[in-house]
Amino acid sequence: MRIEVAKRLQHTEEYYFSKKLREIDELNKQGFNVINLGIGSPDLPPHPSVIEALNYYASLPNTHAYQNYKGIPALRNAIAAWYKKFYDADINPETEVLPLIGSKEGIMHVCMTYLQEGDEVLIPNPGYPTYSAAVRLTGAEGVYYNLKEENKWLPDFEELGKQDLSNVKIMWINYPHMPTGAQASQTFFQELVSFARKHNILICHDNPYSFILTDQPSSLMSVDGAKDVAIELNSFSKSSNMAGWRVGMLIGNQERVNEILRFKSNMDSGMFLPLQMAAVKALALDKDWYADLNNIYRARRAKVYVLLDLLNCTYDINHVGMFVWAKIPQQYEDGYQLSDKILSESTVFITPGGIFGSAGNSYIRVSLCTSEEKLQEAIDRIKLI
Ligand SMILES: Cc1ncc(COP(=O)(O)O)c(C=O)c1O
Repeated sequence: MRIEVAKRLQHTEEYYFSKKLREIDELNKQGFNVINLGIGSPDLPPHPSVIEALNYYASLPNTHAYQNYKGIPALRNAIAAWYKKFYDADINPETEVLPLIGSKEGIMHVCMTYLQEGDEVLIPNPGYPTYSAAVRLTGAEGVYYNLKEENKWLPDFEELGKQDLSNVKIMWINYPHMPTGAQASQTFFQELVSFARKHNILICHDNPYSFILTDQPSSLMSVDGAKDVAIELNSFSKSSNMAGWRVGMLIGNQERVNEILRFKSNMDSGMFLPLQMAAVKALALDKDWYADLNNIYRARRAKVYVLLDLLNCTYDINHVGMFVWAKIPQQYEDGYQLSDKILSESTVFITPGGIFGSAGNSYIRVSLCTSEEKLQEAIDRIKLI
């Protein structure tokens, strides 16, 4: 039978990592034991109290039904309290919170809620590939804004303001930024809110890395007026070690939350109650949880610096997040060439920066989701090249 995929999928390829993991699996089957420093999936477990809560609520007879589309009040309250405690942002738990089955799905919900053919969307280059994939699926057009090392990987509002922004409906933004690890100040967030108001653009801030290796977690939602012009996605995947659990959240004003719920409630039927109760536990953890996690990531990052020094790559020690972003030496054409060389000669996989957009072509990205021992092994293998 010949059946064509819908037009909306015709320019959408399988996700890079989905393909690459298959290639790595193939090498492992041949006995190569590849060390994968690619994907940002935490290898450490969630806090024991979180797992206990999941087990406990899953063992009850009355926790298995469909759930409220807006999440249970206990989770919405816990999210609002967490936003207050760590970000000093005031969020109404009744009306301004929408739990998500991972923040990645939130990116799609937001795009499907607001975009259609003829609309334009500002997308960071480099940036998380899901923004452009989700925008493309709606028929809208991505307009890339280049982030540059010399601008500390922040957008240049003056330059953006010179463009015709009349068809731009949404701007995707993400700080701490993935893949570079650059941070944005509160002053930058204030400028962003003014820019959005001036050009009537909905800012969609994707914020999964705010706790990883930062001194102080930051949120766009703690800036005055942000809720009028912006929404924020947040995630349990990185800061609570719950990537596979698929729990995230969207914060926005009541109107935005209701609009997005109009789409989302037609896609899924709420989140498993024991997961929501476990997420409540995760949000109740105090700052020591994040500090302990960061001690581990700091020690790993020191190893990654050694590995990158061996490759003659350069990096910024002030950057944060779950990855180290590094510029490759000039002898390589691009990050793909270096990544392929390391995979074939050392059986270590490192992500080429080009998968995050053309502005990442001269870079590679190393994940911190691997033990110090494994990182040492990767260093030893690379030393032999
Ligand atoms: C920038 C960025 N946004 C969103 C996500 C997705 O996170 P989640 O697991 O909450 O869907 C990732 C995951 O790697 C990410 O790097």
